[in-house]
Amino acid sequence: MRAVGYRASPPDAGVEHLTDLDLPRPAPSGRDLLVRVEAVSINPVDTKQRGPLADPARFPRVLGFDASGVVEAAGDDATLFRPGDAVFYAGAVDRPGSNAEFQLVDERIVARKPDRLDFTEAAALPLTAITAWETLFDRFRIQPDETERGTLLVIGAAGGVGSIATQLARQLTALTVIGTASRPESREFALRNGCHHVIDHSRPMAPQLAALGFKPVDYVFALTHTPQHMADIGALIRPFGDLCVIDSAALDLAPIRQKSVSLHFEYMFTRPLFQTADMIEQHRLLSEISRLVDAGRLHSTRTQTLSPISAETVREGHRISERGASLGKLVIAGWPAA
Ligand SMILES: NC(=O)c1ccc[n+]([C@@H]2O[C@H](COP(=O)([O-])OP(=O)(O)OC[C@H]3O[C@@H](n4cnc5c(N)ncnc54)[C@H](OP(=O)(O)O)[C@@H]3O)[C@@H](O)[C@H]2O)c1
Repeated sequence: MRAVGYRASPPDAGVEHLTDLDLPRPAPSGRDLLVRVEAVSINPVDTKQRGPLADPARFPRVLGFDASGVVEAAGDDATLFRPGDAVFYAGAVDRPGSNAEFQLVDERIVARKPDRLDFTEAAALPLTAITAWETLFDRFRIQPDETERGTLLVIGAAGGVGSIATQLARQLTALTVIGTASRPESREFALRNGCHHVIDHSRPMAPQLAALGFKPVDYVFALTHTPQHMADIGALIRPFGDLCVIDSAALDLAPIRQKSVSLHFEYMFTRPLFQTADMIEQHRLLSEISRLVDAGRLHSTRTQTLSPISAETVREGHRISERGASLGKLVIAGWPAA
């Protein structure tokens, strides 16, 4: 089967080492599904995973952590899906990724693709939607029943995670959602995804919130460049507020200590990585995302598509992601004609 990845450990994290591969098609067992991949999307984790690895057994190595496709075959213990089902999922960071014609994935972290979306639109959603859902409803323990009031600040609201977190918060809570963006186009995109207000993360944020008339905010979802925003977060969050961080653990916590802020980390690969007993929650939450899309309450965050899936387009996707100015998600769709 065709795939994109590394034949051997790359000498550095350079994108140019990504290459077209010809690999054996894997066979499913246990609760695994074998999925024929139709489209994938790029996330910053792809570029973060690009470096050398000591273990030669992990090569050839395929990256890619978002896919939509069709179930080709299922392991003997799989009960949730059948061959022919159209699905979407993010997968697991310690297994071969989605930049391959066929991929094995545990059915407990897979859901049916929304009928309303084609494969390209659907591939944009899983990784970021899981991250946003687990933050809002598991880490912050907000009830997804449209009752929670207060304020949520999403730092980096126009990116992949921010654009779906904003939609989820608007649809399933009564929170006032304030996003951050630094450019006219990212500001406009954040507003289109549902932010009530947008402030600029390239300037001190606490005074901008005060100028808008907000008291210190209840929930801060810090998506990117968090170490540089910690002093500002300490100034703008309320005493006993909640902060969730997804991009860094190298944080100066002094600015939030006096306010007894609860600090949460969210890592959307935790469940598959540690095979937690509640792993099937990712199937459930992704199924709910699918239902909300089909009900017209959520929309795809895809803004850009490259085609077909090849070393050339995956390298280009990595380069675009590394510029750090993405609006929503970049999808790579289809395979070159055989
Ligand atoms: N832990 C997890 O499970 C998990 C899951 C998903 C992602 N992540 C991590 O979370 C981070 C965000 O992911 P993503 O997919 O949303 O990234 P992304 O799509 O690449 O984010 C792009 C956005 O970042 C904004 N940005 C750039 N500089 C900023 C700054 N100094 N302060 C605030 N925002 C800034 C940009 O807004 P402007 O152009 O307006 O400046 C742009 O819209 C990445 O580090 C990723 O690896 C972690």
